[in-house]
Amino acid sequence: MSRPNAVIRSIGMSVAERVMTNHDFEEFLDTSDEWIKSRTGISERHIASVEETASTFATRAAAEALEKAQVDPKEVEMILVATVTGDMQFPSTSCLVQYNLGATNAGAFDVGAACAGFIYACEILSSMIKGGSVRNGIVVGVDVLTKIVDWTDRSTCILFGDGGGAVFMEASDEDRGVMCTVMKSDGSGGKYIRLAVGGSLYPSRSPQAEGKSDRVYMAGREVYKFAVKAMGDSCCTVLEKAGLSVDDVDLFVPHQANLRIIEAASDRLGLSPEKVFINVDRYGNMSAGSIPVALYEAEQMGRLKRGDLVMTVGFGAGLVWGANLIRW
Ligand SMILES: CC(C)(COP(=O)(O)OP(=O)(O)OC[C@H]1O[C@@H](n2cnc3c(N)ncnc32)[C@H](O)[C@@H]1OP(=O)(O)O)[C@@H](O)C(=O)NCCC(=O)NCCS
Repeated sequence: MSRPNAVIRSIGMSVAERVMTNHDFEEFLDTSDEWIKSRTGISERHIASVEETASTFATRAAAEALEKAQVDPKEVEMILVATVTGDMQFPSTSCLVQYNLGATNAGAFDVGAACAGFIYACEILSSMIKGGSVRNGIVVGVDVLTKIVDWTDRSTCILFGDGGGAVFMEASDEDRGVMCTVMKSDGSGGKYIRLAVGGSLYPSRSPQAEGKSDRVYMAGREVYKFAVKAMGDSCCTVLEKAGLSVDDVDLFVPHQANLRIIEAASDRLGLSPEKVFINVDRYGNMSAGSIPVALYEAEQMGRLKRGDLVMTVGFGAGLVWGANLIRW
């Protein structure tokens, strides 16, 4: 019997309610709308309230995806949540989502691959479906990085926003779905983006944590250089692996971290601007949440239609990066 495909049936999204503009930062930081826009392409982002957490957005996005696919939560077999800002160290955020949805027959675990998390998690669920261990599942990409940034560090706090998206995936003999994925890592670059305190190396409030930061640290320039190369390389590799060329791609949905990174990578790949989806101007960097939210909006705007070939690419802390090709 031939292996089924893992088809994306539906997509949902949820972002924080409160919108914060670049001008809002001018009130407490030595920065300007002009600087932020010209260096990052970001105009505004959504910032989570005290009550809004990763599981809030994940649950809303997943519930929307299930409703659109007209699937009862009890039929869901697996829930994967890609995040580095889960509600707690444990239990996993995927278990909180499983409970919130009433998905009483689902397995659940989190995937930690930072801003490439949604790509990694889609490949994991797709492989499980193709291999026959589950028939369906939900993949969520969500992050709430504004809760762990240093609000006095003007080079990082202006970059992030909060929210995420979810897809419902299931086995099908249709000729579409998650086709091909590339996943890469380089731990030698772990020093470029990290949150030191809170794990087993520097447990919070331990003597080891003294003098270490419990906020996001990022070496912007190093990450920038890495990102442009990683995006270009992984897209070329995934196309080669699938035996396709960049001309076959209908829509390019990159991780929305920085407009200049997206433009540099698209140029390197020779992709025309109308094939590149951009919403970083309105959301900032939502880490694992950025690709599913972009896919959601692309579909809603009619830029992503059934049968289109979409290429997603992401990069982030680890360092990790990856790309996938999805026949929508
Ligand atoms: C963070 C980033 C926007 C900074 O832009 P940059 O052009 O590299 O700027 P630099 O860090 O070299 O800083 C240049 C100057 O701008 C200043 N600056 C930094 N942030 C600023 C801000 N928000 N407003 C005004 N000035 C700022 C710096 O202090 C520095 O000043 P100095 O020359 O007096 O020291 C850019 O490096 C970047 O986008 N990197 C990738 C980050 C990313 O995508 N991370 C997510 C990975 S998932």
